[in-house]
Amino acid sequence: MNPTNTIITIFGSTGDLTIRKLLPAIEKLLQEKLLDDRTKVIAVGRRDYTTESYLSFVEKELKVPFNTKALIPHVTYFKLDVDNQKDYLSLKQYIASISNSDTRKIFYLAVGPELLKGIATNIGESKLVEKEDLNATITFEKPFGSDLASAKAINALLWQYFDEKQIYRIDHYLGKEMIQNILTVRFANKIFESVWNNNTIKHVKIYAKETDTILSRAGYYDTSGALKDMVQSHLLQMLSLVAMEVPRSYNSEDLKNEKVEVLRKLRYDRKSLVIGQYDGYQNEPNIAKDSKTETFVFFKAFVDTPRFKGVPFYLLTGKALEQKESVIIIEFEETSEQHKWDLPLFTNKLYIKIAPQDGISLTLNSKVPGLRNAVEEVDLDYCVACNAVGNLPEAYEKLILDMTKHSKSLFTRWDEIELSWQFIDQVKQDIVNKQIPLRIYKNHQELYDLIYEMTGESI
Ligand code: BG6
Repeated sequence: MNPTNTIITIFGSTGDLTIRKLLPAIEKLLQEKLLDDRTKVIAVGRRDYTTESYLSFVEKELKVPFNTKALIPHVTYFKLDVDNQKDYLSLKQYIASISNSDTRKIFYLAVGPELLKGIATNIGESKLVEKEDLNATITFEKPFGSDLASAKAINALLWQYFDEKQIYRIDHYLGKEMIQNILTVRFANKIFESVWNNNTIKHVKIYAKETDTILSRAGYYDTSGALKDMVQSHLLQMLSLVAMEVPRSYNSEDLKNEKVEVLRKLRYDRKSLVIGQYDGYQNEPNIAKDSKTETFVFFKAFVDTPRFKGVPFYLLTGKALEQKESVIIIEFEETSEQHKWDLPLFTNKLYIKIAPQDGISLTLNSKVPGLRNAVEEVDLDYCVACNAVGNLPEAYEKLILDMTKHSKSLFTRWDEIELSWQFIDQVKQDIVNKQIPLRIYKNHQELYDLIYEMTGESI
């Protein structure tokens, strides 16, 4: 039970993120009594809704049945023009009228990148959030800029008005159950302590495959592409968690200090870089007929720390692929006993399965039952969802709950963003300077065959 009295003010209340993720997550937290009865949600928007008509709009948009019963009494619609400072002052007055000095105030900017700066400035100028008032915080979604320079500019603006402690940068992958579990699997198990290094790990694969195309996100996606949309954030976060050193403690700052060191030591092999665009992308509504935006990317990277020096990390993400699957596969070296066996043994693999099913599995060599002398690869498989009581929490439930508790472990710090952009900018530059070809793919196999030719690795 979290006894915090919280006001969550959401800018972008008619957008997809609010309707599909944030409101259902808050609803769930209320149902589970993880947010208390005093919680208020202020849905800010420019349209002319009343609270009632806003809630009907939400229900209609959701299409699937959504039980808003727990949420309804907590929501108020507040009309605001994001460019008009006076409206922010009215919002401030309204919030003052429903809060007290203990109230936790979260300002969640669920808006497109083009609105971030303006809204943040107005929130700062109107003192809706005052610097150093740790009870008032501001939350952003990615993308944080579109390259290092623009990310720096956004950040400079934020630091002008807010303390770093008040800024919550969301990478929703960090709220996923199995991403949080990476640390537990790594650091709470003796069996992995001595093998989590380049003596024993052969390579690491980090995949985030999607079957979806860009759906209705042309405007954003075409200026972004797979590298900026997925690698800069989710994939590099996964990589940092796998490759980081043992932190001094598991508190937020110590964890981030180690993740940042990984990003500092990250480099990639340009010759392994494959970028692709699904066939038909240029015919999607609102996409330029000659768009060169990549919807697929693969490369081999290295983390030059004593622990991981020489271990390839294969990163892959893309749209319109054969399956929706986010997974980390840690493959161990061949056993040193192989030469004494007259049959080939399998390498051990640890799968950290993030989506669609959360779970862990570890493969082992095992004797085939019976009289013949044979070895098979068996799977010690743990399905998290199958064993959870009730549904697993959605990433946003965890992230919102942590915000109410001032817990920042699952949010990204500025230096993580800075270093990841530095890396992505380098890759982007190489694509242009080295004229890396954009492969148009009709299906995933064409790309995977190419990757096999180039690196000898099968996907
Ligand atoms: C988002 C990207 O951050 O993550 C989307 O902008 C992508 O393009 C999505 O589809 C994938 O998230 P998930 O949780 O479905 O794996």
